[in-house]
Amino acid sequence: MYKKHLQIAVDGPVGSGKTSLCDEVAKRLNILHLDTGAMYRAVGLAAIRNGISPDDEEQLSRLCLEGLALVDAIYKDNRQITLLNNVDVSDDIRTEEAGLAASSVSRFAVVRKYLVKLQQNIADKQSLIMDGRDIGTVVLPHAPLKIFLTANPRVRAQRRHKQLIEKGANPDFELVLQDLQKRDLQDSTRKIDPLKKADDAIALDTSDLSFEQSVQAIINEVKRVYGE
Ligand code: DC
Repeated sequence: MYKKHLQIAVDGPVGSGKTSLCDEVAKRLNILHLDTGAMYRAVGLAAIRNGISPDDEEQLSRLCLEGLALVDAIYKDNRQITLLNNVDVSDDIRTEEAGLAASSVSRFAVVRKYLVKLQQNIADKQSLIMDGRDIGTVVLPHAPLKIFLTANPRVRAQRRHKQLIEKGANPDFELVLQDLQKRDLQDSTRKIDPLKKADDAIALDTSDLSFEQSVQAIINEVKRVYGE
């Protein structure tokens, strides 16, 4: 659809709908979607599998610097496959445990530096929509379009709760809400590249929007910035 090199940066807290919205927008625009959270989850999973605490900066540095947690994202039929040491871990990283480990390991500079470089290399090569926590502020600071997604915590917890039920789990809603609040706090108060809206990002609150309305709101912004 677009001949231009599209760079769309999307940030937001857990449960704001980033991943599913970006997937759908990417499909409609025929561009790639890079889910950067998946890459942090892969490092979190590497820590778990190596028996390393996701809070142990020294051991994590060793893991990253000695090439024991090689992360990559490749595409098959336009869908992202997340690799850890050349093995597809796209499903294994979707547990709550991997999510919490990702949130912990993402506090450390050594992990961020490694993954940000990878993400920038992928963005140089093709049009994409990239979602995460620091895309508009750090990874693609010159992206012509930046969107900051929000939704109130209860709505986000409800979405997360529903997703988990769809996956066959039977989670307690209050626990899901607590977990989400813990991650919000961890992601927005960490010292390095915390979750925050870039000054030039457009804020989009999806609390009262349907999925389709949210998709349309993003596509309208794409048209405004890049033309029809
Ligand atoms: O989007 P997600 O829940 O899959 O992300 C998992 C964790 O990774 C999240 O708690 C914070 C971290 N993360 C990050 O620090 N920077 C990003 N660009 C993406 C995710």
